[in-house]
Amino acid sequence: MTNPSYSAVKSGTFKIGADLEINRLGYGAMRITGNGIWGRPADHDEAIRTLKRIPELGINFIDTADSYGPDVSEWLIKEALYPYAENLVIATKGGLARSGPDIWRPVGRPEYLIQQVHKSLRNLGVEQIDLWQLHRIDPQVPADEQFDVIKSLINEKLIRHAGLSEVSVSDIEAASKFFNVVTVQNRYNLVDRTSEAVLDYCTAHGIGFIPWFPLAAGNLARPGSLLDAIARKYGATPGQIALAWVLKRSPVMLPIPGTSKVTHLEQNVSAVNIALSDEDFSTLDAEGRKAFQAAA
Ligand SMILES: NC(=O)c1ccc[n+]([C@@H]2O[C@H](COP(=O)([O-])OP(=O)(O)OC[C@H]3O[C@@H](n4cnc5c(N)ncnc54)[C@H](OP(=O)(O)O)[C@@H]3O)[C@@H](O)[C@H]2O)c1
Repeated sequence: MTNPSYSAVKSGTFKIGADLEINRLGYGAMRITGNGIWGRPADHDEAIRTLKRIPELGINFIDTADSYGPDVSEWLIKEALYPYAENLVIATKGGLARSGPDIWRPVGRPEYLIQQVHKSLRNLGVEQIDLWQLHRIDPQVPADEQFDVIKSLINEKLIRHAGLSEVSVSDIEAASKFFNVVTVQNRYNLVDRTSEAVLDYCTAHGIGFIPWFPLAAGNLARPGSLLDAIARKYGATPGQIALAWVLKRSPVMLPIPGTSKVTHLEQNVSAVNIALSDEDFSTLDAEGRKAFQAAA
């Protein structure tokens, strides 16, 4: 059952690597795991219902990682959505090793990255990964070695496109000597503007920018705040306004709000119906920057 009154189609489209067209509002599959992004989710059936609702809401871009669970997120995506719709783009990541809840360790040794790509292929049940992202550049391994193995994985057609996560402009430029960097996934939201320069670079170069933790609005969301007042004006929640703001910020912005619940998924997608005025956008922009600077 589709509900066109709040379809992700309304968020507009973006072409990843110039050939994979997606609706800009996607879904992050990190939350369908256990506490500390470890093990199985508390409510398996609700996680499956959430995943099955994704295509019905016009979402055709899912972000996951080998390390979410680990493996659990990729397994559940396959359980719920395989065989995949032709227009569904599944992005995964590798390069963070897990040894317990909330423990994440960068490992960028080429043989490890190759192993993880093969594991993601099996977990997802695909012959080629649409978009594979290096979760972190491992500071203990020469960056060129990590970029070179990504180039080989593309040449072997195990991955179609590649992106980076938590990187600077100079990291993107260094990686671009090895392969076409089609996406960058950095933490970004109304009140975390650390990656403003990276976002501008991505916008100028047509690189998809995937902001993680996009729903965050920090203290700006407190009752009686400006964000709260703007949310009331639009009959929306502060989280929906935060999402509408992020979507309006750049045409290369590909937010992937994450949830384990159908109701939250529907609420997030319905943010596409909010036509934030230029004035409200600018007011929120200024408030967000102020809050970010005050917290720095
Ligand atoms: N590249 C990286 O290093 C990196 C790091 C972190 C995340 N990510 C990716 O980015 C995605 C999004 O990041 P995120 O999950 O940290 O942040 P987020 O999407 O901004 O927030 C998710 C949190 O908000 C809750 N939530 C979602 N929708 C809600 C709603 N409508 N009402 C109330 N609560 C709601 C979720 O809990 P419920 O499950 O209860 O809804 C969850 O606790 C992840 O899924 C993952 O794919 C990437």
